[in-house]
Amino acid sequence: MGKKLLVVGSGGREHALVWKLAQSPAVEKIYAAPGNPGMMQLAECVNIAVDDIEALCKFARENEIDLTVVGPEAPLTLGIADRFKREGLLIFGPSAAAARLEGSKVFSKNLFKKYGIPTARFEVFDDAEQARDFARRLFAEGQGAVVKADGLAAGKGVVVAGSFAEASEAIDSIMKDKTFGAAGDKILVEECLQGEELSFFAISDGSDYLALLSAQDHKRIFNHDEGPNTGGMGAYTNPPLYTEELKQQIIAQVIEPTIRAMQAEGCPYQGVLYAGLMITPDGPKVLEYNARFGDPEAQVLMPMIKSDLLPILEAAAQGQLPGQTVEINPGACVGVVLAAGGYPGTYQKGDAITGLDQLQDDTLVFQAGTALQDNQLVTAGGRVMAVVACADSIPSAIAKVYGEVEKIHFKDMHYRHDIGQKALRQS
Ligand code: AMP
Ligand code: GLY
Repeated sequence: MGKKLLVVGSGGREHALVWKLAQSPAVEKIYAAPGNPGMMQLAECVNIAVDDIEALCKFARENEIDLTVVGPEAPLTLGIADRFKREGLLIFGPSAAAARLEGSKVFSKNLFKKYGIPTARFEVFDDAEQARDFARRLFAEGQGAVVKADGLAAGKGVVVAGSFAEASEAIDSIMKDKTFGAAGDKILVEECLQGEELSFFAISDGSDYLALLSAQDHKRIFNHDEGPNTGGMGAYTNPPLYTEELKQQIIAQVIEPTIRAMQAEGCPYQGVLYAGLMITPDGPKVLEYNARFGDPEAQVLMPMIKSDLLPILEAAAQGQLPGQTVEINPGACVGVVLAAGGYPGTYQKGDAITGLDQLQDDTLVFQAGTALQDNQLVTAGGRVMAVVACADSIPSAIAKVYGEVEKIHFKDMHYRHDIGQKALRQS
């Protein structure tokens, strides 16, 4: 009998995880909760919300799920891994205490300080006037300041302030107007770092780890990193700046010390360690950790992993990573997110999507905000899908992916035209 898996989530990241896990010879059946239409050929979608932990746990028990893989952060911070473990169910993802690495910026920054993990200089405040004083001091030193809400704010609780006035406004918005609710009870003010951003992905079993690879996201809505932040408009793997030397530096200065620190704090980290880094002239510094794969980074990471992912995730969930290895495909992978009209503001839904049947066989489409209406695929979310192409180099993957994107249509579809261009500037 093969294994039964449950993938929790409904986005492009989870579609990519389902696609990758479905290739494992050990898999008999995959369920996705709640899933999306893109996954339907690979998985049975079950209508359970990602934060309905009791219903997910009951489903896993009744359907004898061998491994549950959690996509998004919300169920992790709510304690899905703790709940499953109490039931004796195997789950890949950190405990609620370990997911604080993403869920609380105050927790993670204090951890970095205590254990000497490189990060931007910062202070934590529960008083707006003191926060303002510190921001004023940073600007006086010519540093620039970044203001962050403590808790989860859907990626929007961070303001990189261009002036003291902007920092001051952000402090008021988070602390006084409570734009992000209780997530803003405490705030962080930190120095603004200069450099190139890089995401690094590793898998940890609590004490050991496996380094996967790195990627660059494109968070702003418009070309040349302009306009408001989004969940991510495209990504590509292994940017030229990610050398073997930098990889070793990230592992020695960031990943290993973080795993040791989490052990020492009594909340060993089992799951994906996604380090958002700034590569500064003084080396890598952690901007933030995420407790999951990135979206859309997972959509370019999964096709680059040659090894069967299932034994790796199982071993990590069992605390038995030693002995596992991961083989990465040569070349590069580029993914472009197609967004609905209006995104990242209020967006349209229900527009027919056409052209997917025109794509080359080896082009990948990972759906996110889609739905089926009378057998027609329509838009149903802001980030509708990611189109992904792999090739022997970043430039050829860029050329290939954009050739494919042009074949897809829906009303007011928009996307960035410069995904991966950062890489060409680095090389
Ligand atoms: P975070 O959610 O902490 O990763 O912040 C979101 C984005 O804000 C990051 O991806 C960076 O682009 C930017 N950012 C955060 N902290 C800093 C910092 N200390 N210096 C410069 N940029 C930052
Ligand atoms: N792409 C950014 C994230 O997943 O947080």
